[in-house]
Amino acid sequence: MSAVDRLRPGSTLLVTGGAGFIGSCFVRDILGRDDGTRITVLDTLTYAGNEANLQPVLDDPAQAARLRFVRGDIADPAMVRPLVAEADAVVNFAAESHVDRSILDPEAFLRTGVIGVHVLLDACRAQAAALAAGERRTAGGDPRPAPRYLQVSTDEVYGSVESGRSVESDALAPRSPYSAAKASGELLVRSYVVTHGVDAVVTRGSNTYGPYHHPEKLIPLFITNALDDRPLPLYGDGLQQRDWLYVSDHAGAIECVLRRGESGETYNIPGSAELTNREVVRQLLDALGKPWSLVRTVEDRPGHDRRYALDGSKLAALGWRNQVDFVDGLRRTVDWFQANEGWWRAIKGGDWDAYYERQYGRRLAGSEAAGPEPAHPAG
Ligand code: NAD
Ligand code: TYD
Repeated sequence: MSAVDRLRPGSTLLVTGGAGFIGSCFVRDILGRDDGTRITVLDTLTYAGNEANLQPVLDDPAQAARLRFVRGDIADPAMVRPLVAEADAVVNFAAESHVDRSILDPEAFLRTGVIGVHVLLDACRAQAAALAAGERRTAGGDPRPAPRYLQVSTDEVYGSVESGRSVESDALAPRSPYSAAKASGELLVRSYVVTHGVDAVVTRGSNTYGPYHHPEKLIPLFITNALDDRPLPLYGDGLQQRDWLYVSDHAGAIECVLRRGESGETYNIPGSAELTNREVVRQLLDALGKPWSLVRTVEDRPGHDRRYALDGSKLAALGWRNQVDFVDGLRRTVDWFQANEGWWRAIKGGDWDAYYERQYGRRLAGSEAAGPEPAHPAG
């Protein structure tokens, strides 16, 4: 394990997109440790951002004192520059994150994923220049390192992987507007490391699930629909494969790379369970005690990636191991959605119906029974 920890005790982190699913977990877990770290969340609160995701922090006065929430856009330099000037590190979770929405309306994906990433990196570059000019100092007057930048990216930049596991040196081959925007953000990071010497690292995380997951995504959509005995729209044959990563493991791995990763390097964050969508759905229905007959086969997603799979050796060499297996993680997730109905019903109100009708109305009208249930494991 690398001995160097890039974060000093009492650091200030700028966490962009910190009111979303994974970013809010990162914020809750770090502030919950009570180690003196301070966090500023910059989040524009799109339909996916939710201040309620930070409520556990606000409920504890000691944690709340170390959190600042700023509503704003990462693509706005006037908003970003002063916040980066105060930060020891910038962790960028902000993105439009849903593949289906990137097929319907791609523009916001590019604004946040390309211009937004550029604005954050340029602010980091300006801080490196301020350090070189002797203008970035601690309260005690010592030179203060320029902020480290971490770009939260995705396994989807590798495209569909028919066999084997992706390693970090593999070519980027994105196939959806979402993953193309994420790959573009990564290329900008690389250019700022090479051209301007910005201290930056990239993580490529696997499909993530857990509490506070927006109900547009497979697992929370199917849990919440099943709780209401509504149909579960399974795309195509349902044999697409994902490697599922529990959200606190994703957040912990990001922190590990932030602390110990080498500047200019990229780290895969694999999950703990390579499963087909049919197997995932069977397991979540079992956990809920709901029947397989809720599952409907619907028209497939265009350009649907068949499989993602990551090699995690490089991250393991930094000393990171996932803590939560899929059985435990799914149980925790199902329990959380059952106990937090108010949270997801609020999201499934508002403009949700218009999205649901656009994405699923025609699909469900032409749907079919989903065929036989996958086998249950022996025992
Ligand atoms: P999310 O959609 O739940 O959250 C994204 C957050 O970013 C929201 O709070 C939103 O309001 C905010 N945001 C969006 N545009 C912004 C802007 N221009 N300025 C400021 N804030 C903005 O997403 P998530 O699932 O938590 O994903 C977080 C990151 O992790 C994303 O970069 C995503 O690409 C990446 N990722 C996600 C997964 C996954 O399975 N969810 C897997 C690998 C990587
Ligand atoms: P999703 O949660 O959208 O994540 P990603 O597309 O980033 O992998 O989808 C996970 C898998 O579930 C993917 O193969 C698409 C499939 N899926 C469905 O079959 N039906 C749905 O309604 C959704 C949202 C996803």
